[in-house]
Amino acid sequence: MTLVNVTTPGGNYPIHIQSGRLGALDTAIPADATAIALVSNATVLARYGQRVRQALGRTGKPLVEVVLPDGEAHKTWQSLNMIFDELLQNTLDRKAVLVAFGGGVIGDMGGFAAACYMRGIRFIQVPTTLLAQVDSSVGGKTAINHPLGKNMIGAFHQPISVEIDPAVLATLPPREISAGLAEVVKYGLIIDAPFFEWCERNAGALRALEPQVLTYAIQRSCELKAHVVSQDERESGLRAILNLGHTFGHAIEAGLGYGAWLHGEAVGCGMVQAAELSADLLGFPRADVERVRSLIEAIGCPTVAPDLGRDRWVRLMGNDKKVQGGSLRFVLMPRIGEAVCTDVDAAALDAVFQRTVGAGV
Ligand SMILES: NC(=O)c1ccc[n+]([C@@H]2O[C@H](COP(=O)([O-])OP(=O)(O)OC[C@H]3O[C@@H](n4cnc5c(N)ncnc54)[C@H](O)[C@@H]3O)[C@@H](O)[C@H]2O)c1
Repeated sequence: MTLVNVTTPGGNYPIHIQSGRLGALDTAIPADATAIALVSNATVLARYGQRVRQALGRTGKPLVEVVLPDGEAHKTWQSLNMIFDELLQNTLDRKAVLVAFGGGVIGDMGGFAAACYMRGIRFIQVPTTLLAQVDSSVGGKTAINHPLGKNMIGAFHQPISVEIDPAVLATLPPREISAGLAEVVKYGLIIDAPFFEWCERNAGALRALEPQVLTYAIQRSCELKAHVVSQDERESGLRAILNLGHTFGHAIEAGLGYGAWLHGEAVGCGMVQAAELSADLLGFPRADVERVRSLIEAIGCPTVAPDLGRDRWVRLMGNDKKVQGGSLRFVLMPRIGEAVCTDVDAAALDAVFQRTVGAGV
């Protein structure tokens, strides 16, 4: 088993990575837990519910199952209330443990429910998508969406452990794998040049879910995210570099309508655009822009951005949560393995749009 430790002011906790880990989930439940709330959806439970129920059953503790509707559209107040309803109806107390078992949507909602229920109960992340395993389950950001904005209502609440079973990725659609790999590549770009080179060499094996390669990618991503989050739990500085590609990416997601492109696909394309902008403004080598483009293509993500119209692009990027004082804020790279946050004048974007936006996309 691979172990990664996360250290934050909000709590220290282990990330366990092991093929078959689902079958040992009972070992993650604290002895003093009075009950377990398993929060998931029908898609995940249909595939892995039995294994998890069996493992959690070995604890001998009462098990309450909360089955939420699947999808980003259901990351809402209504779903959150479904969790509270079940927990209250089953009189779960402050010592109950919530297990968030699913992709990032379940992890974010389960975590937020745990942050609020009785002013905060313990929870365990059991991420089942690649994006959730390498990104959303680590770091303690939890949230639901509001009709006026994604992830706008939430809390920082660290899990007591993250339990990762890479074997569950076998049932994930290939597009979801590619989207998760974009976040893996992101860590190399912002903080670890050798890891970026490793991704270049292993792109094929990653897409094919070759077990050893996949496990290393998850481990390294978790280590790098843990490193960033330990220095800046609440995103007052460094943590913002994790948003590489996200200002462009969010515009793509919102401009095409959420769900048309997966979040990771939009971030992948956004990283190509951020590399182009970095070349214009920070002297990021042109040859490395092509390396970024080639790798994003190799992991199966789009590299040509949709034509949203210049003004709409800028407007949508302005809606991004990371806007500060009206100027557009981007994470850019002076070189591979290093990232900085910087304000950019909208006029500087025109050349990037010309090189990255496709007419017919
Ligand atoms: N908290 C954070 O730091 C953070 C970071 C990044 C993203 N997020 C959030 O994560 C969410 C996206 O997460 P996601 O990409 O995991 O999407 P998701 O949770 O919607 O999962 C994608 C789909 O895969 C299904 N699925 C999950 N595991 C499966 C498996 N093993 N086999 C087959 N199907 C499976 C899900 O039911 C869903 O239909 C967004 O809401 C985003 O805001 C949060």
